[in-house]
Amino acid sequence: MRWESDGTVLNGEGHAAVVWDLLDDDPGGTQRKEERAVDGLGHEPVMRADVVRLLLPMPRPGLRLIDLTVGLGGHSEALLEAAPPDAQLLAIDRDPFALDRARARLARFGDRVHFVQSRFSGMSEAMRDLGWDQADAILADLGVSSMQLDDGERGFSFQSDAPLDMRMDPTRGEGAADLIERLDERELGALLRELGEEPAARRIARSIKRCEESPATTSALQAAVRRAVGAQRGRKKLDPSTLTFQALRIAVNDELDELDTLLADLPDCLVEHGRAVVLAYHSLEDRRVKRAFALWAKACVCPPELPICQCGGQARAHALTRRVATPSEEEIASNPRARSARLRAVEWLETAGDET
Ligand SMILES: C[S@@+](CC[C@H](N)C(=O)[O-])C[C@H]1O[C@@H](n2cnc3c(N)ncnc32)[C@H](O)[C@@H]1O
Repeated sequence: MRWESDGTVLNGEGHAAVVWDLLDDDPGGTQRKEERAVDGLGHEPVMRADVVRLLLPMPRPGLRLIDLTVGLGGHSEALLEAAPPDAQLLAIDRDPFALDRARARLARFGDRVHFVQSRFSGMSEAMRDLGWDQADAILADLGVSSMQLDDGERGFSFQSDAPLDMRMDPTRGEGAADLIERLDERELGALLRELGEEPAARRIARSIKRCEESPATTSALQAAVRRAVGAQRGRKKLDPSTLTFQALRIAVNDELDELDTLLADLPDCLVEHGRAVVLAYHSLEDRRVKRAFALWAKACVCPPELPICQCGGQARAHALTRRVATPSEEEIASNPRARSARLRAVEWLETAGDET
């Protein structure tokens, strides 16, 4: 794993591994973040034009759209503006505060938008409640929102001192402080290594677990990390606790299992020629998306040693992004948090009733 000058980290396989949190060290970015925190309703969603183009190639009447990560409602708004006036949108988020913001932003679309507080795993049930068997387009813009990162009370970032919580849905589950307290030093080290790809995972875990009191606030955690690795690292001035915060957030919100559930459910939820777009910000997420989409798009599944195909397999989906798509330089300049975005899209070729 190596640090790049732009603040990303490349692991052994050359995958960029780090997300938005790094940008909290960028003074210009902080300025823009503060503006967005005040003006959350108007924030520009990541790769907005690509998302709309890929999900709505030929808007037709009666479209059913699902935004699984409605967040501040930016992508949903763009989709509803581009779709015919009878299109309906199921807007899902596990964060009740995000849903409140999205409700305000999307109010002008009236009863065309159906808001549901749920995880990805609740998508099928939410669809059933609406009487939808399948949808024409599904979007998942993974990870945390600007609102969650910038909210000084929720403990997602070391930028403000707050209780160490990090739950996207603050009404259920275990917060980061409780998780740290429950894990032993070895388990915590493994978590930091696996989910944060943190090179100093063991040293940091030792420092955290040997604190007189288990860290209960963001500043206590940051201080424990600094005691292990110093106050600076890498070629850029990065906070050394960035990867620790990221790993804990992913664990607290069970983000990788959630993504696996989504990828397992997606095929059954799309109509024939229905489309899905996933925006990932972390190599562990993007690898999962890439693998699932490649498997669906693969026709023959014969062992490689067979000279000709014997399985007669047919591709179940068609990849719409030959390689991963990334934001333009202009978009990154105006919204630095977009810089780690990796977009992949597929078109489903089968209906749910077909043989698989
Ligand atoms: C990157 S933000 C989405 C921003 C949104 N596209 C917009 O335009 O404002 C990700 C959102 O997804 C939500 N989220 C993350 N994982 C989720 C999950 N497994 N189930 C439901 N919502 C999730 C978060 O609470 C957050 O609000």
